[in-house]
Amino acid sequence: MPGSLRRRPTVLLAAFAAAAALWAPTGAPAAAQTAAGKAAHRVTYDRYSLMVDGKRVLLWSGEFHYFRLPSPDLWRDVLEKIKAAGFNGVSLYFHWGYHSPAPGVYDFTGVRDVDRLLRLTEELGLYVVARPGPYINAETTGGGFPAWLKNVPGRARSSDPGYTRAYREWLAHINPIIARHQVTRGGSVIAYNAENEYAANTDAAYMEDIQKQARAAGIDVPITHNQCCDASWTPTWASGQGAVQIPGVDDYPQAFECREPDVWGTWGEGVTERLSDDAPVYAAEYQAGAIDLGKAGYERCRDLTGPAFMKVYYKSNLIASGATMFGYYMSFGGTNWGRLGQPNDVYTSYDYGAAITENRQLTAKYDEFKRQGLFTTTVAPLTKTDPAPAPASDAAAVHTEARANPDTRTQFVLVRHPDRTTDADASATLTWNAPDGAYRVPVRVKGRDAKVLVAGYDMGGQRLAVSSSELLTHTAAGGRDVAVFYGTEGVPGMTVLRYASEPTVKVLDGKVRAAYDGKGNLRLDYTHRGLARVLITGGGRRPLLLLLGTDAEAATFWKSGGVLVRGGSLVRSARVAGRTVHLRADTDEPADIEVFADTSRMTVNGAPVPSRRTSAGTLVGRVPGPGGVRLPALTGWRAAAEAPEADPGFDDRDWTVADRTTTVSPIKPKTLPVLYADDYGYHHGHVWYRGRFTATGEETEVRLNAITGKGGIYQVWLNGRYLGSAAGGEQKDADEPVNPDPGPGTFAVPPGLLKKGETAVLAVLVENMGHNDDWTADDVRHKQPRGLVGATVAGDPGPITWKIQGAARTDRVRGPLNNGGLYGERTGWHLPGFPDRSWTPASPAARRVGPGVTWYRTEFRLDLPKGHDVPLTLRFGGGSGAPHRVLIYVNGWGLGEYVAGGPQRDFTLPAGILRQRGTNTLALAVIAEGDATVGPVGLHAVAVHRGGVPVSDVPSPGGTS
Ligand code: GAL
Repeated sequence: MPGSLRRRPTVLLAAFAAAAALWAPTGAPAAAQTAAGKAAHRVTYDRYSLMVDGKRVLLWSGEFHYFRLPSPDLWRDVLEKIKAAGFNGVSLYFHWGYHSPAPGVYDFTGVRDVDRLLRLTEELGLYVVARPGPYINAETTGGGFPAWLKNVPGRARSSDPGYTRAYREWLAHINPIIARHQVTRGGSVIAYNAENEYAANTDAAYMEDIQKQARAAGIDVPITHNQCCDASWTPTWASGQGAVQIPGVDDYPQAFECREPDVWGTWGEGVTERLSDDAPVYAAEYQAGAIDLGKAGYERCRDLTGPAFMKVYYKSNLIASGATMFGYYMSFGGTNWGRLGQPNDVYTSYDYGAAITENRQLTAKYDEFKRQGLFTTTVAPLTKTDPAPAPASDAAAVHTEARANPDTRTQFVLVRHPDRTTDADASATLTWNAPDGAYRVPVRVKGRDAKVLVAGYDMGGQRLAVSSSELLTHTAAGGRDVAVFYGTEGVPGMTVLRYASEPTVKVLDGKVRAAYDGKGNLRLDYTHRGLARVLITGGGRRPLLLLLGTDAEAATFWKSGGVLVRGGSLVRSARVAGRTVHLRADTDEPADIEVFADTSRMTVNGAPVPSRRTSAGTLVGRVPGPGGVRLPALTGWRAAAEAPEADPGFDDRDWTVADRTTTVSPIKPKTLPVLYADDYGYHHGHVWYRGRFTATGEETEVRLNAITGKGGIYQVWLNGRYLGSAAGGEQKDADEPVNPDPGPGTFAVPPGLLKKGETAVLAVLVENMGHNDDWTADDVRHKQPRGLVGATVAGDPGPITWKIQGAARTDRVRGPLNNGGLYGERTGWHLPGFPDRSWTPASPAARRVGPGVTWYRTEFRLDLPKGHDVPLTLRFGGGSGAPHRVLIYVNGWGLGEYVAGGPQRDFTLPAGILRQRGTNTLALAVIAEGDATVGPVGLHAVAVHRGGVPVSDVPSPGGTS
């Protein structure tokens, strides 16, 4: 949601009379097998949680946008990383406009193959919340609407017949794909989200119809909704016409101002509200990063939503709300490649300050997700809890809050400062009436922190009475349990385990004191420092290897399929076969990887590694680090200036005549004819206009008005003479009044340029920065036009007749958003194989370009080592002269727009689009507003990892079809 718009809409929201929920069934009847031979499962829910075949599930999912990563093999990389962070699900928007260049035309192939995406989630064992909109917001062009919808009469996000026909068409394509991947058919989709934050200008019949369409297509998993912000936004779709089964809430407590990352809670406490007594509490989108509204750079957004925030807010929410369904927005943000971005809130990078960076690197936030995710998805009693009396704290500076499972009586106690933003170091002793008895538990909260402590838990074959350390995870292997606890470095910890008789305690590593009280309590005291190891045998239970570490040590653990592993920079999967453990892992330096399973041999990425058994009964293997990498310098550049369209003699006979006098757009033009690009079918990137008029010789000024979306410009030539540029405007933002003068530009006509009675040619190049969203469902914002909205020439010449030209045709492989209608884009200058031998040798670092459009092309060969992952960026060193912007094409794929002086200088070049072992074509279209030099441009390796996933080249055809 845009920051400025979070206030409650002024519209009086309707109350809905019909109370009956539409869809009574809460899942398909259990069928043993699906037609595809996969095991079918039943999905149900109650007020506590989702259930699969009656077994409760705590859904801990991260949001992922496949459309922001145009390299399907890298979907696996990111999803494996998400899974390895302890997530058991992903939340996926499906982007209508990404798949549909024109009414009735849909494409689900190549980078748009969402069936492949869902197969992958299935293979990796990640549940999916499928979110096909039809409206998705997501800071993407049109909020996910196809741009052609702007030409469809009738209000979007309503039951208007025009819109209804359009969205039903989308749902008819996407729903069957989602339906065949449901958990109920042996797939991964566990829930289906209808619409998106649909709280303003709502229409219950529309909300109801989305669900009807889903049910008719065979969607039988629960239907959810993500309500914006809190229950004061109505309707919440918890009851009445259009109600969903599981209404959820989106929480962005930190808002989106990353310039002040230490300011917390701008939008409040972030405790997810219960909207229904019959359904689990669903934190549908919980803030896990931020858009960079203040252009501070995404590292600041990562700070704003960093580990301390995650500890305090996520854990507070877990205990205060009792939510068991979570969608963390975003787990990986990705790239607004091509024209995917919405212009107001984002630039090319959609890194989002997420746990996994745009270049697929793991951050400190990833570590924190892992600490919390392994816990929440391990400890089953968390799936069913009620508020419970909290242990009394003897210090006001330490606050406690609790929930308990009514069946197992397991308790979960939140310990934090009463004021969550304080940096204080506070200690207290808790008087804790735990299921196994009363305990006095010393706790300490150092700085911005929060802990969830557990008592009365059957931990595998063990009984945890109480602990002041947090539980990371536990598993059983080789006839014993292994459990990992952790706490703040240097802070004392205490754990009490229950036994029938005194067990034998052997401290293998670190300093741990053990005392048995003769009444079943084995108390361990220690200080969190490094990783202590304690082997406990006897006492009437199977052996326990207890690992007690710091936060940092906890983050070194991985768990895959019940196998606990430690070390390496990423463990993607672990599988034990006989006495051998097979790991798929990444390393960024030589590393010891330890496996807590009863094995004697180890392979990593298919190759055996030397390994040894430890006294703790684990296996440690030595894994090599990455090899070296050499990147080529970018040389051999050739340049060519274009914009022949500015020349009065240019042949535009094939261009579209722009002579319409009416438009569907709710915003009316200032002059006729209508010159809106979308009205002529040109929806993305640049458009050219050529206007002809008979001159009087008295012309003094050209007066134009253009809407580009925020950040765009337009440029003007008269009879081939460059007159200058102006900032394109915006028409309307949400509930603000219509702007009568969105993007004015006045350009003096040089004396003597026009001759009386002669035809003059006005050429205008207008950028389209993307389409606005429709967050408040008012239809006006997303339908605001792009292109010229007014054009007059002072001096009373004859009428202007216009022609318009945008992108020549949709690139079938790269899709409608890849490129616009620059001359070079229309004729393939951005594509591999374009014959540029006749171009002038010249490099962007040195050459000064004039106003208008100049292209640079070069090729470079990469020979990146196999079995490695080397994420690369294209780095702009900074240029000089007039304002300029650069469209970046790699192998024909539009990978972003560099704007000189803007917040972004590094542009992600995803493997797959980039041939890692082969020749790549780089083309830059420089659009300068005057004389300018782009400056140095080079390749930069973000990291070098041994490991990664195999990435095949994404098809990148040359030619213009
Ligand atoms: C939410 C919306 C998401 C995204 C997010 C901000 O309001 O549902 O799609 O826009 O805000 O990044």
